[in-house]
Amino acid sequence: MATCLSLLFLFLITSSVTLTTPANSLPAFFPRATYQSLIKQAKSPKPKFPFKTHYFPQTLDHFTFQPKSSKIFYQKYLINSQYWHKGAPIFLYTGNEGDIEWFAANTGFMLDIAPKFKALLVFIEHRFYGESMPFGKDSYQSAKTLGYLNSQQALADFAVLIRSLKQNLSSEASAVVAFGGSYGGMLAAWFRLKYPHIAVGALASSAPILQFDKIIPWSSFYDAVSQDFKDVSRNCYEVIKGSWAELEAISTQKEALTELSKAFRTCKSLHSTTSARDWLWAAFVYTAMVNYPTEANFMKPLPAYPVQQMCKIIDKFPSGATKLSCAFAAASLYYNYSQAENCFEIEQEVDPHGLHGWDWQTCTEMVMPMTRSKESMFPPSGFDYEEFAEQCQMKYGVLPRPHWITTEFGGQRIEKVLKRFGSNIIFSNGMQDPWSRGGVLKNISASIIALVTEKGAHHVDFRSATKEDPDWLTELRRQEVEIIQKWLNEYHADLRHASTEVLV
Ligand SMILES: *[C@@H]1O[C@H](CO)[C@@H](O)[C@H](O)[C@H]1NC(C)=O
Ligand SMILES: *[C@@H]1O[C@H](CO)[C@@H](O)[C@H](O)[C@H]1NC(C)=O
Ligand SMILES: *[C@@H]1O[C@H](CO)[C@@H](O)[C@H](O)[C@H]1NC(C)=O
Repeated sequence: MATCLSLLFLFLITSSVTLTTPANSLPAFFPRATYQSLIKQAKSPKPKFPFKTHYFPQTLDHFTFQPKSSKIFYQKYLINSQYWHKGAPIFLYTGNEGDIEWFAANTGFMLDIAPKFKALLVFIEHRFYGESMPFGKDSYQSAKTLGYLNSQQALADFAVLIRSLKQNLSSEASAVVAFGGSYGGMLAAWFRLKYPHIAVGALASSAPILQFDKIIPWSSFYDAVSQDFKDVSRNCYEVIKGSWAELEAISTQKEALTELSKAFRTCKSLHSTTSARDWLWAAFVYTAMVNYPTEANFMKPLPAYPVQQMCKIIDKFPSGATKLSCAFAAASLYYNYSQAENCFEIEQEVDPHGLHGWDWQTCTEMVMPMTRSKESMFPPSGFDYEEFAEQCQMKYGVLPRPHWITTEFGGQRIEKVLKRFGSNIIFSNGMQDPWSRGGVLKNISASIIALVTEKGAHHVDFRSATKEDPDWLTELRRQEVEIIQKWLNEYHADLRHASTEVLV
């Protein structure tokens, strides 16, 4: 059974529906439906959106000189210049797999620190996401158009746009620092490594750059989700672990499904138990990812430390209750913390075109194999590369290149490699986040620094500071600011040095 984790954030559920067999839900970074509704939410209660939107005429293909390569598409980017003056630094968010406004709205950290640095903030949307569609609504039509969607093109987009922006601002000496979370964090780190002449450093938050090939054990992700629950209570973990078999045992006859639909308070009657499973599954995986120390609304509104809250619900259940009903009640915290849901939309509509940007990326370069061990709280499963490749071939007519990312960007023996090459990267990870297992968790050199927090979750450092933030989080951000300041000081010292050399 093929389980390949889809995106860092995006599509857990979507991929399982379209790409994998029932027993294989795959996490992606974020579920589509949730994400769309979030964008709406993010836009409605209006704290004024502190960015101006621009569109940059971007080159379709940076790497060949075919006649079509120079076709232009409009790439969206957001700017905040309220604190900036000429010569001051530029903080670049390397956009990941989604609407850039959503990432901007959830990266309050950059706004928080902009005044201190007098930084210009630039959030660049990743090609083939949000509004930055090279072929308009036909962008996902086939491999002919999707072929231009990959991380190398995206990095080149950032480089070209930043050069143009600096030129237009007549501020070519401004230092650029790259910021990114999740897949965007990978891009930020890779941007520093591939374009050191453009970015003086990178803060890569929750960037699982080691989730490829065989660098880390393939069971890491699901083992980490399970550990989060087990750490709260053994019972909680056991109950969730036991719930799948109870669900599996439900007959697929109409009456049984009607019963299940009632128990799960679904808006429409279920057609299979699979969708109920995927729904529970997503709740546990995403809650582990966003196990933030304060109330937050990233994917959905959730209380502080939601994994603890879920386990509290499970542990309080009267003995004799089925494990499945406990699991359902816990998952309801994820879907209904707002208390606003009348019923649950469990069977998500499958996109009739079935083609989403991240799905393409996972079927080509972003191959992150995942298995589920017997110790995980999910049904055990291996990873069958052949089956996965076949599904990609069927879906897009292309085969994945499972070793390409490590060939292009490295990853194996990263400590030894980056110790002698590269500088000025912060890898920050929170151990609650299951993606942390694919992150860089050890200091590599004096300037390639791993900041690891035991209680942190998926790029928690990028969230706006709040009064409720625990000390470790405040300290993490303080350390990040201090390190970035050091990079900038060194950069400016080098500049001054260079200019005196010229004078002499
Ligand atoms: C810089 O100016 C040129 C000419 O007006 C424009 O085409 C380009 O989009 C600008 N660059 C950016 C990053 O906005
Ligand atoms: C969501 O929570 C509210 C308030 O507790 C409750 O009335 C409602 O039934 C819940 N919705 C579902 C689908 O369980
Ligand atoms: C890396 O070094 C920094 C100090 O420069 C330290 O604060 C941090 O804890 C170290 N990280 C790890 C994972 O040991």
